[in-house]
Amino acid sequence: MLIQDLWYKNAVVYCVNVERFVDANGDGIGDFEGLMRRLDYLAGLGVTCLWILPFYPSPRRDDGYDVADYYGVDPRYGTAGDFVELMHQAREHGMRVIVDLVINHTSIQHPWFRDARANPKSKYRDWYVWSKKRPRGWNKGMVFPPVQTSTWSYDPVARHYYFHRFFDFQPDLDTASPEVRTEIKRIMGYWLELGVSGFRVDAVPFVISTKGPDVKPRHDFGFLREMREFLQWRQGDAVLFAEANVPPNADLDYFGDRDDRMHMMFNFVVNQNVFYALASGDTRPLVRALERTRQHPMTAQWGHFLRNNDELDLGRLTDAQRQLVFETFAPDKKAQLYGRGIRRRLAPMLDGDRRRMELAYSLMFTLPGTPVIRYGDEIGMGDNLALPDRQAFRTPMQWSAEPHGGFSAAKRTVLPVIDDEVFGYRRVNAADQRRDPDSFLNWIERIVRMRKEVPEIGWGDWQVLGTGSPHVLAIRYEWRGNAVVAVHNVDAKPHTIRPGAKLVNLLSDDHSDGHKITIEGYGYRWYRVGGLGETLSGERA
Ligand code: GLC
Ligand code: CA
Repeated sequence: MLIQDLWYKNAVVYCVNVERFVDANGDGIGDFEGLMRRLDYLAGLGVTCLWILPFYPSPRRDDGYDVADYYGVDPRYGTAGDFVELMHQAREHGMRVIVDLVINHTSIQHPWFRDARANPKSKYRDWYVWSKKRPRGWNKGMVFPPVQTSTWSYDPVARHYYFHRFFDFQPDLDTASPEVRTEIKRIMGYWLELGVSGFRVDAVPFVISTKGPDVKPRHDFGFLREMREFLQWRQGDAVLFAEANVPPNADLDYFGDRDDRMHMMFNFVVNQNVFYALASGDTRPLVRALERTRQHPMTAQWGHFLRNNDELDLGRLTDAQRQLVFETFAPDKKAQLYGRGIRRRLAPMLDGDRRRMELAYSLMFTLPGTPVIRYGDEIGMGDNLALPDRQAFRTPMQWSAEPHGGFSAAKRTVLPVIDDEVFGYRRVNAADQRRDPDSFLNWIERIVRMRKEVPEIGWGDWQVLGTGSPHVLAIRYEWRGNAVVAVHNVDAKPHTIRPGAKLVNLLSDDHSDGHKITIEGYGYRWYRVGGLGETLSGERA
């Protein structure tokens, strides 16, 4: 292993929504100025890479995933100058920045679409996907059922139907068109020049699938290579981080078996099985999911997460497994979404139970890949099911016990800050947790620090060890002659395992001579095999 500088192999990614983070100018809407003021906080947490959700000018009918200008900053959040200033300050804090690349579709308000629909001769007409007659599959393939009811809608101005994989206000770009592809690269080139370290690429399977009336479904993986090539010529260390919720046998199509497509992908299969393990106490399906997603090329990496900015999608579990996760974490139908997911944050799903929250994050931080956390996770924020759809878990960050949780000094905020008895800002906020050494925030800070001191997880080969118990998962990582073992008991009862080697506990004083370890209910351990001296011998340069 010669290449050391694949920074993303051991990054700590923090996903932030500028609009919902901090409002500095008091208009009720989060902004870049506010985010900048919190960079010290994020650096203190140990974040090494910020992933900024869409901040481009947009009608925001899908929280900015309906872009109306790819080359700008929504004036509600600040200016292009603020963005550049943020990039500068993030670099000063040792943080990289990646941004969302939402190029499967535009907003219906995008000037390209407005021109395309109004003028059949417009050069933008061919940038979208049209049909004179209503195509046969017009009511198939929706991503957001039952809110979304079709994938083809009639446009009375163009007097044609247009294709939209997502909502009807998100017309699909014809991503097979050479002109559209050139424009996509122009967009990437633009943000790269402004200093980003790569892109979270939205909805990748749809970007590369054939689009048009009555077409046969096919994926053009060549386009992923085209994007990678462009990116790497422009900036060698930038990455493409794909949102592609695909079955494991398609992983290599997306990574490219010659290290030539996506650098990173979110591991949705493992994510769903983590929740199944937490719900059932059985880690065996999770082990299978890890094994099935094991193979990936040298420069590729998985991104692991617990919750993201979307519903917890359980579509890849069996019906019985999904049912169990629903019953355990979202028995109230109101908490379920699109027939496949849960619209909640993690802490309330686990009843705010600190042991289980630690177990879940400790497990996530030791999965083979790079951890991704989401704003508010670090203080155990809750959700508000009175808000529609995915807004339930997209509420503003809770900074303090001040009005609106210190998010904003305005009378009204863009979305109400959670103010209930259990997870409201008076009880759950960053300021109080900072002062309390035993808070969840400080625990997260410690576990992030530990994750950084265990590069074996991001780089190493791994192996699931037999523990003799379906409730206890033990993974051993090896890299450059060093080995680390992470053990997690997802059951409420204690279990005993026999590791057969001398283990040094990295999180507490309770070491093991290798004969047996009893792990309490929901317990977790990070061990170094052999002596602690080995920690230093394999350090990164
Ligand atoms: C992705 C995003 C989601 C968005 C959709 C349409 O799935 O994660 O939030 O609604 O794409 O862009
Ligand atoms: Ca503001």
